[in-house]
Amino acid sequence: MKRKLVIVGASYAGLQIAASAREAGYDGDILLIGDEPDAPYQRPPLSKGFLTGGFGQERLPLRSQAYYDEMQIQWMPSTRAVRIDRERKELELHGGARIAYDHLALTTGARVRGLDCEGASHNAVHYLRDLRDAKRLVEHAQTARRAVVVGGGYIGLEAAASLRQKGLSVTVVESEPRVLARVASPSISAFMQRLHASRGVSFALGRKVVALHDMAGEVAVELDDGARLLCDLVVVGIGVVPNTELAAGCGLEVAGGIIVDAYARTSDASIVAAGDCAAFVPYWAPAGSAACRIESVQNANDMARTAAASVVGRVEPYRAVPWFWSDQYDQKLQMAGVSTGFSDFAVRGSVEEGKFSLFYFRDDTLVAVDSINRPQDHMLARKLLASGARLGIKEFNDPALDLKVFANRDVSVARDASS
Ligand code: NAI
Repeated sequence: MKRKLVIVGASYAGLQIAASAREAGYDGDILLIGDEPDAPYQRPPLSKGFLTGGFGQERLPLRSQAYYDEMQIQWMPSTRAVRIDRERKELELHGGARIAYDHLALTTGARVRGLDCEGASHNAVHYLRDLRDAKRLVEHAQTARRAVVVGGGYIGLEAAASLRQKGLSVTVVESEPRVLARVASPSISAFMQRLHASRGVSFALGRKVVALHDMAGEVAVELDDGARLLCDLVVVGIGVVPNTELAAGCGLEVAGGIIVDAYARTSDASIVAAGDCAAFVPYWAPAGSAACRIESVQNANDMARTAAASVVGRVEPYRAVPWFWSDQYDQKLQMAGVSTGFSDFAVRGSVEEGKFSLFYFRDDTLVAVDSINRPQDHMLARKLLASGARLGIKEFNDPALDLKVFANRDVSVARDASS
């Protein structure tokens, strides 16, 4: 009898597991189950080009139907899995149908964190996670004039840029004292805030929304200092919550995400997990670090490749360098590595001209690079970080150092030199 790989969650990670398993020679059935009506599609444009109008829906699908046919990946839309029976190796769907599996992959992603205050369910309130959200927002933005964006993270800032480009006035309310506090260093936060301010965006930093009041079609957004911001559109981007209920319901280990090992395997040998829903201890984290989730397209795709390798019995540890990007107005922010806890940094390029990179060091080792409009630095940074070579700030600042040559050095030589 044919083996069966069932994948729950049809976005980047789910599709990539299906594709990589097939490419690696998995000859059984592959079934990709998703609760959305659309075939897996690109999400990054939803807060950027799709919102401004330059990126049409026809360009969103990640793969054509011909691809699914050719790879023999069966795709089930609008289907919700509700329970996993690990003993019988069966997945139960909403409505009661059961599907047997040999291997199960959980790529259930994350859902938006909801605003929790009086008036939060007002019709003018939007979230931005999936295509349905984006379509509703695009429609409303056509007639809206004043927007309040709650959350100064990626979603908030990208939405703010897109709405400004559409001519709306925009105020961003962020509970931390700076934007992008979760993901960026203070210098990058300051640069991004200046960029938005120069395009006319206002900020209320260190402020929380305490209530939304209906004002005959408009909304007054009340902040915790008593200020009221009048608007006709509210976009909320205050983070996400991983979808771990299926995993927890069948007794898999869950702690802030579905816990997986370096091979994307859960505590059940027949179940892997990848993407936004999965928590793991990254290879670059100091020993003893807690498992964490990395919310990015890169992580979804690369971790899915590791998960697929585990499904076909080729164990390959997950060792990809994390990277992220964000396009706002005509500016490109690219990040490689994770700068949390950095102790030193060096600048390359010109901050004044808006073309620069920040190289971050922790324990005298390069750990991350953020680049603004310097794509060549970003690519180099990914190579440097992947090389495993130790690069300290003194070496970095040595004018004789050729980073390109360093990045291409034999890693064993680099390791020897640094030990
Ligand atoms: P986020 O975690 O990046 O940012 C949320 C922001 O909201 C934080 O700055 C936080 O301090 C703030 N916040 C939290 N509660 C608040 C409150 N009550 N009032 C005001 N501010 C509050 O999450 P975000 O922006 O919602 O993005 C969701 C997900 O989508 C993330 O996984 C993100 O990485 C991903 N994404 C990534 C993009 C990229 O890589 N370019 C673009 C868009 C989304």
